[in-house]
Amino acid sequence: MKQVNLGTTGVKVSAIAMGCARMGLIEVQQAAKNIANALEQGVTYFDNADIYSDGKGSAETVFGQAWKLLGIDRSSMMIQSKCGIVPGVMYDLSKEYIIHAVEGSLKRLQTDYLDTLVLHRPDMLMEPEEVAAAFDELQRAGKVRYFGVSNMNPMQIELLKKCVKQPLAVDQMQFSVAHASMIRSSMEVNMLTDGAVVRDGSVLDYCRVKDITVQAWSPLKRVGRGMFLQDEEFAALNHVLAEIGEKYNITPAAAAIAWLLRHPAGIQVLIGTTKPQHFNEICKAADVQLTRQEWYRIYLAAGNILP
Ligand SMILES: NC(=O)c1ccc[n+]([C@@H]2O[C@H](COP(=O)([O-])OP(=O)(O)OC[C@H]3O[C@@H](n4cnc5c(N)ncnc54)[C@H](OP(=O)(O)O)[C@@H]3O)[C@@H](O)[C@H]2O)c1
Repeated sequence: MKQVNLGTTGVKVSAIAMGCARMGLIEVQQAAKNIANALEQGVTYFDNADIYSDGKGSAETVFGQAWKLLGIDRSSMMIQSKCGIVPGVMYDLSKEYIIHAVEGSLKRLQTDYLDTLVLHRPDMLMEPEEVAAAFDELQRAGKVRYFGVSNMNPMQIELLKKCVKQPLAVDQMQFSVAHASMIRSSMEVNMLTDGAVVRDGSVLDYCRVKDITVQAWSPLKRVGRGMFLQDEEFAALNHVLAEIGEKYNITPAAAAIAWLLRHPAGIQVLIGTTKPQHFNEICKAADVQLTRQEWYRIYLAAGNILP
């Protein structure tokens, strides 16, 4: 399995990670099989959140029971979780909330520590001093090893960095060939095209400059969150993914993941399927290096443009 950097921590992680958002919807036995299968594929990084599956962390509960059932060593995998969303109510990155959320995650995940704690979304009432105090306390207590953010732009990261002393290792962003505004705005610089609109503060380029690892969430989804695979509106994209997939003996879905992995930022892709067969097909993407021409062909087939 291809490895990428976990920010500037010096740690290498599998370029493909298992997204556990739907793990609360499957039986513990199946979840255990999925975790064991992922480890066999060399996927050792698991992305959770305190709200996954039902808004209350049932995904973490199932994950915790599943890895215990397997009897594996805690150190054989890296567990990441996220906090800060109070579903339907507000975002909360206060010190008290972060610490309370991590305690809950640790209990549900049946572990003494998180490898990575990620702030799920920017909270407009966030005080960087409070986040820093929460991170310090969690790190001192050995409850969190590394820290990161999600859906944050460069200025929000800079604001945190005024007070947070730990490196922010990751920024988790929605990113697929059919939701590629981070690429489009970089490509269409100073044009009057729709794609030229910078919606994210140039976060992809910023993360490269600062060595923050971009984690791509919903890598098989289009803008608006539906799947682009087998979507008539993306017929041209699906055709090209199938053709390029055939060349490398991988599925169209895997070709779409290979497109993300080809980007020089060293992206880590979060795969949300709960089906081992789909998961294994996707993992083959890590062995494929698309050519420059193939990368652009897939990009254009998704309706993106060259200015
Ligand atoms: N930070 C954030 O705000 C945020 C937001 C959303 C998600 N995430 C993270 O990102 C992870 C992935 O997100 P996601 O589940 O929305 O995105 P995804 O991995 O792009 O989508 C997974 C969906 O694709 C389907 N699928 C259909 N054919 C497939 C194939 N051939 N191979 C693989 N999948 C196929 C899966 O269905 P089957 O199960 O039937 O295969 C599943 O419904 C989540 O688990 C979570 O960890 C983070």
